[in-house]
Amino acid sequence: MPDNPSPTSTPRGVYIQTFGCQMNEYDSAKMLEQLRGENYAPVANPRAADLILLNTCAVREKAEHKVYSLLGTLGGLKAHNPELLIGVGGCVAQQKGAEILRRGKAVDLVFGTDNLFQLPELLHRARSGERVLRLEWEDKKRRVANFIPDFGPLAVAPGQVKASLAITKGCNNFCTFCVVPHTRGREVSREPDNIVEEARRLAGTGVKEITLLGQNVNSYIAGGVDFVGLLERLSEVPGIERLRYTSPHPQDLTPELARAHRDLPKLCEHMHLPVQSGSDRILKAMKRRHTRAEYLDKVAMVREHVPEMAFTTDIIVGFPGETEQDFLETLALVEAVEFDQIYAFKFSPRADTPAADYPEQVSGADRTERLARLFDRQERSAQRRQERLAGTRQEVLLEGPHPMGNGAMSGRTRGNKPVMILECAEPAGRVLPVEIISARKFSLVGKGVAP
Ligand code: SF4
Ligand code: F3S
Repeated sequence: MPDNPSPTSTPRGVYIQTFGCQMNEYDSAKMLEQLRGENYAPVANPRAADLILLNTCAVREKAEHKVYSLLGTLGGLKAHNPELLIGVGGCVAQQKGAEILRRGKAVDLVFGTDNLFQLPELLHRARSGERVLRLEWEDKKRRVANFIPDFGPLAVAPGQVKASLAITKGCNNFCTFCVVPHTRGREVSREPDNIVEEARRLAGTGVKEITLLGQNVNSYIAGGVDFVGLLERLSEVPGIERLRYTSPHPQDLTPELARAHRDLPKLCEHMHLPVQSGSDRILKAMKRRHTRAEYLDKVAMVREHVPEMAFTTDIIVGFPGETEQDFLETLALVEAVEFDQIYAFKFSPRADTPAADYPEQVSGADRTERLARLFDRQERSAQRRQERLAGTRQEVLLEGPHPMGNGAMSGRTRGNKPVMILECAEPAGRVLPVEIISARKFSLVGKGVAP
């Protein structure tokens, strides 16, 4: 096969397997956009692929081992297709690049989180037989950069009504448990015009809802435009009906952002605001840069402007040194905020982070037991919020037919609750008022009503 097939030749197949967060999902979509320009088309089965890319995540324990075991399996496919190339990108690649190339004999290409836009060039070299390693950071001093270059058609599926859009990358906070500053580098904000242009292009494909992405979205600042300024500009993009973002940091949650939730009609009433712990002692050991009281004050400040605001959060249980008393403070905070949902994990030591070496590691049994108690408490408090929604009228964005069939559609409220809309003949992408008939544990059931 020639190295650069003409656009009219049969496309090569690419299979991308993505692990981790929404940022990784977004990066995979950007890889696909570039590869389309290189005459690749996505395939659903790695056996049909000429290129397999693993976009890895370093958050879980043993993440690296999982990559090696997967590479062992995928490497076997080369026996059937000698043209097959295997590449590894993402956070594990950034951390362990050279070792992956050394231990993963089937790997042709390893690239870091800052190198994904060099993919066509790197692939070209891999096709010529070179085993390629590229982990260099872009200019580390730049705080503002158009880190998402423009490509061809956006990787948006037909009928897709929601999409993500990266506005910052990296993080400067160095929480003591987190690998992100090591795998994603220092914080960089993308130029506002560049972001608005991508939003316009997404609107042009039929996307109605955009989630702005960044490790620390609300410290965005570029060319005098701050996060609220950016939300204002994006609110003016015709066709975009809803804006969300993830994740903000409590220390950067300003009164202006709280007011924006009240004043910008497109900005939804949901915030994923990671807290990690309810104990000041543990927050300090985590270097979270906020106290329990400051977190609760910020939640109260937002709800002062938007009483129905839904909060979700991330919590780590069993951080080194966490006592029963510390844990009880986390339970009390969960009770006080009434989160709609929590993403809670047992602490697991992550390579290159200070907390991995802290003394007083909490036993595995205690971590497991605390996690179960936390979920139990959360379930009861979420249930109360959920039940309050029964009988209310909610604005719902229709996302597509409900898997249950029977003419029902799936959608989400502005608070990000999944809803099954019964007997609904409206198409995906429509925003309509829905009366909530009943509240299940994790979802709502409703019926469309006249506006
Ligand atoms: Fe990690 Fe978030 Fe802390 Fe940054 S603010 S170091 S991304 S946990
Ligand atoms: Fe994982 Fe990297 Fe995201 S470590 S959670 S893929 S930023």
